[in-house]
Amino acid sequence: MKIAIINGPNLNLLGKREPEVYGNETFDSFLETLKSKYPTLELSYFQSNIEGELIDKIQEVGFTYDGIILNAAAYTHTSVGIGDAVKAIITPVIEVHISNTFARETFRHQSFISPNAKGIIIGFGLKSYELALHSFL
Ligand code: DQA
Repeated sequence: MKIAIINGPNLNLLGKREPEVYGNETFDSFLETLKSKYPTLELSYFQSNIEGELIDKIQEVGFTYDGIILNAAAYTHTSVGIGDAVKAIITPVIEVHISNTFARETFRHQSFISPNAKGIIIGFGLKSYELALHSFL
């Protein structure tokens, strides 16, 4: 089974960025653990701080992969383009967030991804990604 994990802006800083909100672990270290726990899955990973690159990646994997786990980070709340890309593809998308966005500022309560996501997992730290992965098993 081919699953793509796609992370948006500033998530390259996980481990150093606001650890009280996002934790101390880097995404690379988390990904290694995830890959060793699920060796039969083909897990690909892409991170970008650039909106158009995220759209390109969603289009690239969105007709051939079995699932996408998408944390569009701040673009979740602003990007009609990423929302449209999720709507345009056939691969199911699980929207994930590390923090509980509904317990934070009101501008984080809106998502352009949610209306076209298969499901949403929010607020479980990096475990949100693993829970999303489970939804495809
Ligand atoms: C986030 C929540 C967003 O509001 C924020 O802009 C992020 C990370 C999360 O995973 O908790 O960068 O998507």
